[in-house]
Amino acid sequence: MVHEAAFTEIDHYFHQGYLTAQQAENDAAEALAILGISPGARILDAGCGDGRLAVRLAALGFRVTGVDRDAAQLERARAAADQSGISLAFVNAPLEEMGDIGIFDAALLWFTTWGFSDDSRNARVLRSIATRLVPGGSLALDTLNPIGVQSYLSKHPAPVVTRQGEDEQIDAYSFDLVSSRLWTNRTVRKDGVESSRLLKLSLPTIPQWEQVLKEAGLILDSVHGKEGSEFTPDSWGMVLVARAL
Ligand SMILES: C[S@@+](CC[C@H](N)C(=O)[O-])C[C@H]1O[C@@H](n2cnc3c(N)ncnc32)[C@H](O)[C@@H]1O
Repeated sequence: MVHEAAFTEIDHYFHQGYLTAQQAENDAAEALAILGISPGARILDAGCGDGRLAVRLAALGFRVTGVDRDAAQLERARAAADQSGISLAFVNAPLEEMGDIGIFDAALLWFTTWGFSDDSRNARVLRSIATRLVPGGSLALDTLNPIGVQSYLSKHPAPVVTRQGEDEQIDAYSFDLVSSRLWTNRTVRKDGVESSRLLKLSLPTIPQWEQVLKEAGLILDSVHGKEGSEFTPDSWGMVLVARAL
């Protein structure tokens, strides 16, 4: 079994039912409401993937830079920008080493982009973003709530199957209490070929987040439920807002 984290073309393929234009509209609106920023603000879309948020935010008048290490996702993002006639910057780089990409009023780590690497690399990603925010600039970090995830999995232990025609993705979840990580054993059967990966997503508790963010030069400001809902212990997803010192 290979241990890796990237959201690759195959993950994109099985997520197409979720990655709709309407979902992207909703996510962009949710992120903007949480960040409370106005057009003209500079946004770093960290791990922008196929650009579904970056392109929409740029179309609304934000000055957006999308960064991603995956060339295939960036190709999709550039094509989406071209198709919409929108001009924005895309940078093909790891978030840990983004080079001279400028300074930002706000940053996004959206759609569980943070947390699949080891602890030191995850910390470097946050530091790298924090140093590119103006003092008081905010990071919106869309992740999962470890308490809600454990409670849900205790009631719904069965693997989750996603189908695309004859192809299928089977996610078997377990929560590792020692590392506070959600393990996903992801098996994919596509075009008659089967492969498996083990994804390990770091899901700190809120007090642990306060510490992780502090070490990166950020202060936890607020915690939100998803899609405008209130954050509760049962929330599956959550969005943290952290401010740069
Ligand atoms: C789950 S996708 C989310 C994409 C986008 N944020 C969205 O909302 O659709 C995660 C993306 O982040 C990128 N990514 C994750 N960790 C990264 C890192 N350390 N450096 C650069 N890109 C990263 C992956 O290549 C992938 O395209």
